[in-house]
Amino acid sequence: MSLQKRAKWKSKTGFIFAAIGSAAGLGNIWRFSYLCYRNGGGAFLLPYFIALIVVGIPLMILEFGIGHREKGSAPKSFYSISSKLEWIGWWPVVFVMFGIVVYYNVIISWCVNYFYHSFNLSWGADPGAFFDSFLNVTSGPASIGSISLPILGGLILVWIISWIIVFFGVQRGIERATKILIPSLFVLTIILAVWAATLPGAGDGLIQYLRPDFSSLADAGVWIDAFSQIFFTLSLGFGIMIVYASYLPEKTNIVGDSLKIAVGDSLFAFIAGIAVWGTLGYMANAQNVEISEVVSESVGLAFVTFPQAISLLPAFSVFFGLLFFAILTFAGISSAISIIEAFSSSLMDKFGFERKNVVPVVCAIGLLGGVVFTTGAGLYWLDIVDHYLTTYGLVAVGILECIVIGWYVKAENLRKYINSVSVSKIGKWWNYSVKIFIPALLLFFLLWSLGVELTEPYGGYAVSILVFIGVNWVVMTLVAAFVFSFLKWKKEAV
Ligand code: TRP
Repeated sequence: MSLQKRAKWKSKTGFIFAAIGSAAGLGNIWRFSYLCYRNGGGAFLLPYFIALIVVGIPLMILEFGIGHREKGSAPKSFYSISSKLEWIGWWPVVFVMFGIVVYYNVIISWCVNYFYHSFNLSWGADPGAFFDSFLNVTSGPASIGSISLPILGGLILVWIISWIIVFFGVQRGIERATKILIPSLFVLTIILAVWAATLPGAGDGLIQYLRPDFSSLADAGVWIDAFSQIFFTLSLGFGIMIVYASYLPEKTNIVGDSLKIAVGDSLFAFIAGIAVWGTLGYMANAQNVEISEVVSESVGLAFVTFPQAISLLPAFSVFFGLLFFAILTFAGISSAISIIEAFSSSLMDKFGFERKNVVPVVCAIGLLGGVVFTTGAGLYWLDIVDHYLTTYGLVAVGILECIVIGWYVKAENLRKYINSVSVSKIGKWWNYSVKIFIPALLLFFLLWSLGVELTEPYGGYAVSILVFIGVNWVVMTLVAAFVFSFLKWKKEAV
């Protein structure tokens, strides 16, 4: 046992807010609503909820169970299970820290910049051209171009904010910040959704968003989208939920809290979808075009389509812009801090470092790692790294977790443990889903994505670039995970 006493959440709601903060991120705003549209509107909610129930919640319970039982960050928890398995804990925290959060914070920096640009609606009549010049975007991933100073400035700001929050620790930092950020996030998003839904033409957008087309359910791609969205949005396979659960008190409610977090996260995505589709409907109406002509997702939605819609608003467009980019920033920061915490606490657990020394170093390295994404090739690199890490890394970690817990620790043992500490209990079905169903399903997705990859290189990029940036990133983080697990534990750490 560590000599330093392990930090604890001050309250149950503090834990729930922090976990929802991690879960509710950019993906809820710009991906969920688009997936609904693309995959059969309201009918998509069916595969979405099935994925939530059969994979999302059971896996979240599993991660909470590991972290609570072993009282440690992901590496420490897997090391306690078996010293040979420590790398399974390091891998997610390393690749999310050096693969995902480095670019995620760059996107938050774009949001901060656009928040500022909202004051003058500086994107003018052609937001697409404005975005390209804002990014200094080059012709492809191989030509790096130059660093964009406003993006770098925003990035420094985002890292400073993250640093301050994580520096103050579990109770005074993360818990306090998410207790402010998450309720504000919900309130702001509800205001935006109501506003958007009452704009002229919004109804047409909402119909596109939710009109059910049940025939889509016969398409395997729809189900894959649902499962991968659940995985990413609930922060599963990131090593985050493990460490968050390690700060829970002895008697807790792992099962009940998982449900609340999953519902909170989905509700947020659903409300954000109303804001997005209300706005798209309005925009199509105002320009007198079909909705299909204005539809977009992710970066294009947030930084091109929305600015355009904002400029079209008859009144209060500045407020609408400020609201939208504030929402993205809040949602992003509350997710980013969760992985910074997961990685920092891994270092603290293993090497006995103190938080006040670890966090500044981690944030400084994260900032440096992000610089490549502030260049003119940033957008391409980000797209490639994101694709490889979320398609392969997260899913691989999910499979490994299920195999280790299901077969090595034995699912029944963890289930008994969870039921002994949790107010609400979980049935025997969970064992089968952890042992067989979830890993089989995830393996199927992994192979499917690999098959698609081999027939058509992702995003039409050159294969050499994909290998150099994407595959390499996955492999290097795996190597780093092994290196970390070979290093010696500080004596009294375990
Ligand atoms: N759940 C977040 C989303 O939907 C993604 C996310 C979770 C994330 N944890 C993270 C991203 C940590 C970066 C770092 O957007």
